[in-house]
Amino acid sequence: MNVMEVTVVVVMVLMISASGEGRVAAPIEYSAISCRGHTASILEFGGVGDGKTLNTAAFQRAVNELSKYASDGGAQLFVPAGEWLTGSFNLTSHFTLYLHKHAILLASQDIKSWGVVDPLPSYGLGRDAAGGRYISLTFGTNLTDVVITGENGTIDGEGGVWWQQFHKKKLKYTRPYLIEIMHSHKIQISNLTFLNSPSWNLHPVYSSDIIIKGITILAPVTSPNTDGINPVKSGWDEYGIKYGMPTKQLTIRRLTCVSPYSAAIALGSEMSGEIEDVRAEDIKAVNTESVFWMTGNYGSHADIHYDPNALPEIKGFNYRDVVEENVTMAARLEGISGDPFTGICMSNVTIGMAKKAKKYPWTCSEIKGITSRVVPQPCSLLPDKGRDKRVMCDFPTDTLPIDDLKLQKCSYVKNYL
Ligand SMILES: *[C@@H]1O[C@H](CO)[C@@H](O)[C@H](O)[C@H]1NC(C)=O
Ligand SMILES: *[C@@H]1O[C@H](CO)[C@@H](O)[C@H](O)[C@H]1NC(C)=O
Ligand SMILES: *[C@@H]1O[C@H](CO)[C@@H](O)[C@H](O)[C@H]1NC(C)=O
Ligand SMILES: *[C@@H]1O[C@H](CO)[C@@H](O)[C@H](O)[C@H]1NC(C)=O
Ligand SMILES: *[C@@H]1O[C@H](CO)[C@@H](O)[C@H](O)[C@H]1NC(C)=O
Ligand SMILES: *[C@@H]1O[C@H](CO)[C@@H](O)[C@H](O)[C@H]1NC(C)=O
Repeated sequence: MNVMEVTVVVVMVLMISASGEGRVAAPIEYSAISCRGHTASILEFGGVGDGKTLNTAAFQRAVNELSKYASDGGAQLFVPAGEWLTGSFNLTSHFTLYLHKHAILLASQDIKSWGVVDPLPSYGLGRDAAGGRYISLTFGTNLTDVVITGENGTIDGEGGVWWQQFHKKKLKYTRPYLIEIMHSHKIQISNLTFLNSPSWNLHPVYSSDIIIKGITILAPVTSPNTDGINPVKSGWDEYGIKYGMPTKQLTIRRLTCVSPYSAAIALGSEMSGEIEDVRAEDIKAVNTESVFWMTGNYGSHADIHYDPNALPEIKGFNYRDVVEENVTMAARLEGISGDPFTGICMSNVTIGMAKKAKKYPWTCSEIKGITSRVVPQPCSLLPDKGRDKRVMCDFPTDTLPIDDLKLQKCSYVKNYL
């Protein structure tokens, strides 16, 4: 076991279906990292938003055509109200995909028609199956300056058929995501709703300068691996170590997450390429499986060739100003035998235990740390430093580049929608 592996990041909630007709008058306005010099509608490329016509070729034609403006102010593609059935298409640089409020991209359920790409090099293998991976619905690699946004338009993965096939172990390759962006920088995903992804929803990887904001992600709580946003991974066992690209400088703010079968925020699993400087604030976890949970034995390996002696150094966890209600287990913190998780700090944490709580609210092993003003009384491995106000676990005070990002106001007068 060479990584600390916990559960996956999951932001999944109730099922709500968005539908309806409607047109907005020009001008439209939105905020983005870049505005564009050229504008087109999917209708100009033969798109038909009737929910039945397959638009894969129309989308790919549109992107290919608009990529010609990359060095001339960039281009944006409007998707008007309607249901746009499509298979996977690839994005391009200096490009904006904008979905109208009542635009729904509907992923094709014809599994045979999905292309296959290689496993991620830091994973070595696909996550569901050993071979390749079905390409994501919207895919981009080696890009710069891409915006996927809209007035809360919807990208619907129609995942049901994939979940069934996954449960029946009938899939030849790993399920697709709704958006995967690889080897890219300056990416914005905002003001959209993501529905029923076949698997993970948003997967930026080997990329930097990514902003994801103002989005809603919905899937049945029982759907398999429909993780919301998945940046908190960095590879699997020996493949992750070899690829050696850590996840770092991650800021999570104002997240609300309903997750009865998983964590609201999870680091890992698959983090063998290291992960550092993750900050989370203003988090609301509703009906969540866990808040304080660490394990050194997630029990999942790419293959048998991992190095059992490649143990991780897991340290520096600060939790503060947390209020919990109706909790059955206060914390389960389990490091690795002979390789403890250290530097755990918890201050100003009030855990309201449920009527039917576990007899011992804390389970601790192979960890080191301190606590201050934590109720109920923590395990002995996390000694209480008293009610002294000065014992306060640190939250970083330096700023990250994302804090200085200024979005531009983009506005278009043409009535494309
Ligand atoms: C999209 O990109 C993938 C990976 O680079 C490639 O395999 C596929 O052929 C591309 N699809 C199109 C339609 O260009
Ligand atoms: C994309 O970037 C990666 C990493 O820099 C590189 O290894 C790969 O060859 C590039 N792929 C393409 C299609 O340019
Ligand atoms: C966007 O739509 C989803 C699904 O209908 C909804 O839950 C969410 O509140 C909407 N977001 C905004 C900002 O209106
Ligand atoms: C996008 O979402 C943000 C909230 O995250 C909201 O303030 C803003 O008005 C939205 N913009 C549009 C164009 O819907
Ligand atoms: C303790 O946490 C609560 C919220 O969880 C916060 O309102 C309060 O200000 C915190 N106390 C101190 C001393 O920071
Ligand atoms: C506490 O949680 C249980 C389910 O675990 C639920 O049935 C009960 O209504 C909750 N109580 C309160 C006060 O929220």
